[in-house]
Amino acid sequence: MSEIEYRPGLDGVPAVQTRISFLDLEHEQIVIRGYDLIELAERLSYLEVGYLLLRGEVPQPAQLSALEATIRRQQASLPPELGQIYAAWGERLHPMDALRTGISALSADHGGFDADNGEGLEDTLIRLWALVPVMIAQAHRARTHHPFSEPRGDLPFAANFLWMMTGIEPSPLAARIFDRLLILYSEHEMPNSTFAARVIASSLADPYGALTGAVAALKGPLHGGANEAVMHMLQAVGSAQAMEAYLLDRLKAKARIMGFGHRVYMHRPDPRAVMTKALLAELVREKGGQQLQAMCEEGERVMRDQKGLYPNLDYYAAPVYHLLGIATDLFTPIFFAARTAGLAAHLREQYAHNRLFRPRVVYLGPRGLTLRTGDSG
Ligand SMILES: CC(C)(COP(=O)(O)OP(=O)(O)OC[C@H]1O[C@@H](n2cnc3c(N)ncnc32)[C@H](O)[C@@H]1OP(=O)(O)O)[C@@H](O)C(=O)NCCC(=O)NCCS
Repeated sequence: MSEIEYRPGLDGVPAVQTRISFLDLEHEQIVIRGYDLIELAERLSYLEVGYLLLRGEVPQPAQLSALEATIRRQQASLPPELGQIYAAWGERLHPMDALRTGISALSADHGGFDADNGEGLEDTLIRLWALVPVMIAQAHRARTHHPFSEPRGDLPFAANFLWMMTGIEPSPLAARIFDRLLILYSEHEMPNSTFAARVIASSLADPYGALTGAVAALKGPLHGGANEAVMHMLQAVGSAQAMEAYLLDRLKAKARIMGFGHRVYMHRPDPRAVMTKALLAELVREKGGQQLQAMCEEGERVMRDQKGLYPNLDYYAAPVYHLLGIATDLFTPIFFAARTAGLAAHLREQYAHNRLFRPRVVYLGPRGLTLRTGDSG
């Protein structure tokens, strides 16, 4: 053990060998199955990227139609008991917790998991992928005392997701921007939640358990919870003029500024944030929100000047979601919904090339203690 260097947070330690994705810092690219994520976001739809993630190739039109049909069928099959749970808990349940509970509960009637049964596994993964947005929307509608907006088979995935959450059919621009954000969030190599999912799957636990663990991991503000925290910060600051003083004050207090920094990029721009900043500008032209945009850009400037830190995806995603009319505490669940595609690919890969995760420790505690008479009753 002694020759293995301890790296807090497993910083820089490879956890798996994968064919799914890679943060290629040298070429400033997020490589997804060999393609550049930014190009995928410009050219493909979220479902196409999800197919690519899961099966390793861009779908032909017939393959995409078949996936769309499966997703539509699955989205119509949310167990009614979940709706009852969400209605009973109402506003007491944060949507992220509703999702964690819901994913776990979906395992009802789906016992007997067999990691070697490729077809059965893929059916389960697609079921989860399809139902996550439905659960988010249903929990949200229940706690805001709105009737559930049933999934619309006539709308593409992203537009249908927005429709289910808001009860409003989005404009083509809003649907396209939301679809792009789903792509940008769909996969990102080995973040905390993906690692959590793979660790759980490595005991050959079922995908429901692995995704339940992933959703718990993603909720934290150092990970997926950052986009929600960014929105709270922007609302607390209120104007571009107040941004610099606010940030200087927080930095002086050694606080973390949400939406900045990243374990892998740290002092480099996150290509996803660069694209999302442009999407925000596009959306502002249709919906207004110049103040919000100016505030974000001012925050970016101050953080670069003060700390050499760049915004991550969550920073610009927050104002985009806000202008799309999405409730702030749905931002993190939406991140998870998008990431379900990448997680599905990781689970499949983990089961196919499994070795139980079982690391060691650097023990810092005492040794050789002996109990004294009377130490125990
Ligand atoms: C993502 C994150 C957890 C990565 O952390 P990490 O790799 O463990 O990096 P560290 O905590 O070791 O930070 C390294 C240095 O940068 C600083 N730093 C990193 N992110 C910072 C932030 N958002 N605000 C202020 N300072 C930050 C740290 O204070 C530390 O400075 P120091 O060396 O002077 O103490 C971190 O950047 C963070 O907390 N960001 C805010 C939350 C967020 O946006 N998360 C979403 C990530 S996609």
